[in-house]
Amino acid sequence: MNNIHKTAVIGTGYWGSIIVNTLIRITKKKIVVYDKLKENSSLLKKKFKEKILIANNYNEILRNKNIKNIILATHPSVNYKIGKKILTFKKNLFVEKPIVTDTKKLKELIKLAKQNNKILMGGYIYMYNNYIKKIKSIIKNRELGKIKYIEIQRKNLGPIRNEIDAHVDLGSHDISILKFLFNKKIKIKNLTKRNILKKNISDITTIDLSIGNLKCEIISSWLNPAKERKILIIGLKKMLLFDEMEVRNKLRIFNKYAYYPKITKFRNNYLSNKARIYKGKTENIFVRESDTLKNELKHFEKQAQLNKQPLTNGDFCLDIIKIIS
Ligand SMILES: NC(=O)c1ccc[n+]([C@@H]2O[C@H](COP(=O)([O-])OP(=O)(O)OC[C@H]3O[C@@H](n4cnc5c(N)ncnc54)[C@H](O)[C@@H]3O)[C@@H](O)[C@H]2O)c1
Repeated sequence: MNNIHKTAVIGTGYWGSIIVNTLIRITKKKIVVYDKLKENSSLLKKKFKEKILIANNYNEILRNKNIKNIILATHPSVNYKIGKKILTFKKNLFVEKPIVTDTKKLKELIKLAKQNNKILMGGYIYMYNNYIKKIKSIIKNRELGKIKYIEIQRKNLGPIRNEIDAHVDLGSHDISILKFLFNKKIKIKNLTKRNILKKNISDITTIDLSIGNLKCEIISSWLNPAKERKILIIGLKKMLLFDEMEVRNKLRIFNKYAYYPKITKFRNNYLSNKARIYKGKTENIFVRESDTLKNELKHFEKQAQLNKQPLTNGDFCLDIIKIIS
């Protein structure tokens, strides 16, 4: 291997390949890749030619002193073992969410990163998304009035995981979003699991949770014919919908609400307690489009270079695992 590369990606399946595609656009340096299935890294080599170097095994990457940063896009079941080695070899480490599902193992990785003075970052990509940042500022400015309910839907047909449930795979993104939006304690009230394809894996899940008095529901499914990515926020004054699948107008605020009038007097001797509905204008919220994965990977490279904690550091990820497990 020559000395002009500094980042390596281990695990170049579906998401790892997308990561490499994005890295190619943000660095002039060669990228070293390794996947235990050779054909997965060969596909990238075929596409990007001299920009890609294929390692024969991950130990070769660990021993390469020029490689400072490693991205792990394998599976949660192998992340602990490989992650531990990477940190022991004093490399900065980015691991795709949920990193691992066992809090004890994640604590160990956090400790190891600290001992070796290296960065440990989890791939909670929505923290680097301009729409989510905009929603946070809308909530902060109290534009929706008191927020009473949030419903998040993340559905698609696949990818179907065979080692973690849908609420861990998909719902962990939504927990990260709620954590980022409110920065308050999240309590799971109920978890409904539907094991449809396999006895021990949940394909469709609903998490019922609360953040103080605010009630939220997270619906995750990889058994849905169409891709759905929606965040609905019901305020007492306005309602907000973020629909990622919309080509235009992904983020809208509806000047609409429903309420029960205060009963202060009898009208025509008849006590009316019917709910009223107000329908005002809908506002399309402008958000500057940007490549979220690019933002996330740039953040990793920058924090690694500065040796500073990333936004989605080990403790951030540990919080999420504690909540969903
Ligand atoms: N941030 C996001 O939006 C997002 C999206 C999709 C997936 N992911 C995460 O990315 C990770 C990978 O998901 P995926 O859909 O790409 O899965 P995948 O099965 O397509 O890819 C995983 C790859 O890792 C390789 N691998 C497994 N064990 C290995 C080992 N010991 N050494 C080397 N390579 C090994 C496999 O051969 C495979 O190519 C998961 O943790 C998933 O949650 C994140």
